[in-house]
Amino acid sequence: MKILFLVFFLSLGDLSFLLSVESSEVGIGVNWGTMMSHPLLPIAVVEMLKANGVGRVKLFDADPWTVTAMKDTGIEVMVAIPNDQLMMLNSYKHAREWVRMNVTRFVPAVNIKLVGVGNEPFLESYNGSFTNISFPALKNIQKALDEAGFGHVIKATIPLNADVYNSPTENPVPSAGSFRPDIYRLMVKIVKYLHLKQSPFVVNIYPFLSLYQNADFPIDYAFFDGNAVPLYDNGINYTNMFDANFDTLVSALKKVGVGDLKIIIGEVGWPTDGDKNANIRYAKQFYDGLLKKIKKHQGTPLRPGNIQMYLFGLFDENMKSISPGNFERHWGIFRYDGKPKFPIDIQGNDTIVGRHSNELVPVKGVDFLPEQWCEFDDRARKDVDQVAQSTSYACSLGDCTVLGYGSSCNGLDNFENVSYAFNMYFQMQDQDVRACDFGGLAKLTNKNPSRKGCLFPRQIVSTAVGDQTIATVSVLKILLFLISLVMAN
Ligand SMILES: *[C@@H]1O[C@H](CO)[C@@H](O)[C@H](O)[C@H]1NC(C)=O
Ligand SMILES: *[C@@H]1O[C@H](CO)[C@@H](O)[C@H](O)[C@H]1NC(C)=O
Ligand SMILES: *[C@@H]1O[C@H](CO)[C@@H](O)[C@H](O)[C@H]1NC(C)=O
Ligand SMILES: *[C@@H]1O[C@H](CO)[C@@H](O)[C@H](O)[C@H]1NC(C)=O
Ligand SMILES: *[C@@H]1O[C@H](CO)[C@@H](O)[C@H](O)[C@H]1NC(C)=O
Ligand SMILES: *[C@@H]1O[C@H](CO)[C@@H](O)[C@H](O)[C@H]1NC(C)=O
Repeated sequence: MKILFLVFFLSLGDLSFLLSVESSEVGIGVNWGTMMSHPLLPIAVVEMLKANGVGRVKLFDADPWTVTAMKDTGIEVMVAIPNDQLMMLNSYKHAREWVRMNVTRFVPAVNIKLVGVGNEPFLESYNGSFTNISFPALKNIQKALDEAGFGHVIKATIPLNADVYNSPTENPVPSAGSFRPDIYRLMVKIVKYLHLKQSPFVVNIYPFLSLYQNADFPIDYAFFDGNAVPLYDNGINYTNMFDANFDTLVSALKKVGVGDLKIIIGEVGWPTDGDKNANIRYAKQFYDGLLKKIKKHQGTPLRPGNIQMYLFGLFDENMKSISPGNFERHWGIFRYDGKPKFPIDIQGNDTIVGRHSNELVPVKGVDFLPEQWCEFDDRARKDVDQVAQSTSYACSLGDCTVLGYGSSCNGLDNFENVSYAFNMYFQMQDQDVRACDFGGLAKLTNKNPSRKGCLFPRQIVSTAVGDQTIATVSVLKILLFLISLVMAN
């Protein structure tokens, strides 16, 4: 019976592969960030991507460990240059070297299609630090691609935040869209260059952030269910922010003579924790609406048809800065351990026979650390100051982003809060016994302290062998641990 099923799945898999090639349709794109204390093994992640029919991957760097994992998969890859390398790439010599080292040596085994030059370098919060160096870097990278003979298949672009354009507050409709005044002339040059090179404009659009930043934002307008009071503009009723924002960009492009420039959504998604509006119910509602739109090739009122996009993101990343907000570490469609958080129809296919296609396939072969957790020892002498200090230490090096108002573990009492912080620190330190002490305030337990809706995680076995420093630290830790065992005997 089992064997029959397997054969059935295999042939179904082969068939859908043929069909997808025939229709030349590429699956959905995802952003794969790796700012995790315990990254998953890239080849296991790539297997998962294939099983879920993901067709495109956007990376935030060109880490050879990740890039080579995409070899011979056919998945379209976007590699990227972090902002702190833009200055160096203002030299053509360096740009040529970058392209040689991080792009052309992987091609064609890795199907690289795009190079992201910087990441949202014109964000207002960067105070103009990258304003003067992004465009020269873009031109140098494209020139290096052109001279290497790949310019017609691999395009350089600058992934931008939607804050590079807007409509005036007195006329907040998409048709009034224009580039931000402080970078207007620069943006005009960039979009004309992209147009000339037949490169896409890559933009990140986040209805969640609009909701987060503005208490008066009508929540229905963040989703795609058509329940919001429409925004009327030139004969069009906009009922969701995504369409209105996208069309604001279309209008801005039209006004400077490049109305047909290709637009790709570089990031779009919804976080599941760390804020009152960041939860699985809303994330599912958002993705369901978005993916239905993609499946129907609906596009927006000004750009009907297919829109290429990359969902943000693949995994929760517990090492990301939380200066934007606690939700920043909870954008994953998958958890830190590679398990899907909720079912979504990522293949645009709710009717595959034999399985519910909207059940995502998890990352396989993930090993967990032993079944133990660290918690507050309630027999400990309760020195309030010491407890507070230890907790804030644990949180600063661990991750306490789910304890706050509206988050999944907000219901914990005082000492459970402390336990949560201690455990997170302990797990992120690979369950090093010395990381569960806190001056005698903490103890180990084999009883899972998780409760409904609030997960006390158990970390996975770190696979960060690609990173020299992490590997060295782990070896050192193991040595210390062995020494401590010997000493104890
Ligand atoms: C989705 O389903 C349709 C038929 O319902 C099928 O033709 C297509 O190949 C499927 N796509 C994927 C990616 O499985
Ligand atoms: C990319 O290329 C440059 C050499 O030009 C190198 O410094 C860098 O480490 C390479 N790798 C990544 C991930 O950027
Ligand atoms: C930008 O300026 C503000 C205010 O002067 C400052 O607080 C912030 O740290 C600056 N950010 C960067 C990235 O330089
Ligand atoms: C960028 O260039 C302009 C004009 O040359 C100059 O006024 C400005 O100070 C430069 N900005 C930075 C951050 O270097
Ligand atoms: C737009 O919505 C308003 C209010 O719901 C409605 O009166 C109007 O007919 C709609 N216009 C179009 C063009 O759909
Ligand atoms: C637990 O910690 C969170 C975040 O610091 C805080 O908002 C909450 O009030 C704490 N709960 C208790 C009962 O102290």
